[in-house]
Amino acid sequence: MKIQNSVVFITGANRGLGPAFAEEAVKRGARKVYAGVRNPTDISPPGVVQVRLDVTDPASVAEAAKQCGDTTLLVNNAGIARLTNSTLEPAMIDDMRDIFETNVYGTMRVSQAFAPVLARNGGGAIINMLSDAVWFARPMLAAYSASKSAVWSFTNALRIELRGQKTTVLGLHVSFMDTDMTKGLEIKKTSPQQVAEAALLGIEAGQEEVLVDDFTREVKRSLATAAAIYLNPPEIG
Ligand SMILES: NC(=O)c1ccc[n+]([C@@H]2O[C@H](COP(=O)([O-])OP(=O)(O)OC[C@H]3O[C@@H](n4cnc5c(N)ncnc54)[C@H](OP(=O)(O)O)[C@@H]3O)[C@@H](O)[C@H]2O)c1
Repeated sequence: MKIQNSVVFITGANRGLGPAFAEEAVKRGARKVYAGVRNPTDISPPGVVQVRLDVTDPASVAEAAKQCGDTTLLVNNAGIARLTNSTLEPAMIDDMRDIFETNVYGTMRVSQAFAPVLARNGGGAIINMLSDAVWFARPMLAAYSASKSAVWSFTNALRIELRGQKTTVLGLHVSFMDTDMTKGLEIKKTSPQQVAEAALLGIEAGQEEVLVDDFTREVKRSLATAAAIYLNPPEIG
């Protein structure tokens, strides 16, 4: 699909990757961009309409889908991460529940609410924001990685089902990105602008998977080899 004249709905659009998606969509000629945010403000960039949205709240998701019935491209971007010291910490189970509520059930909820909207508007597309962490886990990010693996799996099933209504489902994978989520981590990071641009180029090219950076491509390539990165992921820092 073309971004020109599309109507884009982005979850978690107030900071990090979300605003970069909004800016890139406007730049590429989107007719309207809905910024799904938990706390709307009075100020929106030109071409952007704020919509109240908490992906953990079914009523808020249903209301947003009703309000934004002209959406043709949904970007499931909202997500949370939490660092843990050890996979053996009992608190990790609660962390995992919290993270799944946003990253997995949030993505599922928004996809379910917007799929009929996209169908009514001719099919369109969904971008699900995934990660290189769908294919490996570090103890400090175990709950987050598990959530991204789960949402990758959901994305793969959703893609097949929504082909029937001509909706393209694109899984977007990147390693570390320069946002609040990685603040304080001394590592190589991709800019959110680069990620948004790669994703929208992928949508225009009809792609169903975009791997943004070299490390993510290497992680996927290594999966079937004896040197699979999930067996010995590199240390951070
Ligand atoms: N940063 C990375 O290294 C990296 C790498 C790979 C993938 N990702 C993924 O990229 C996506 C964007 O992350 P980011 O780096 O931009 O993170 P970020 O800077 O922490 O921003 C997260 C965004 O999600 C929103 N959000 C969180 N919970 C929400 C909820 N319940 N309902 C609605 N919005 C909610 C936040 O809104 P509030 O301001 O209200 O909290 C914020 O706008 C996430 O899915 C993340 O997992 C990130």
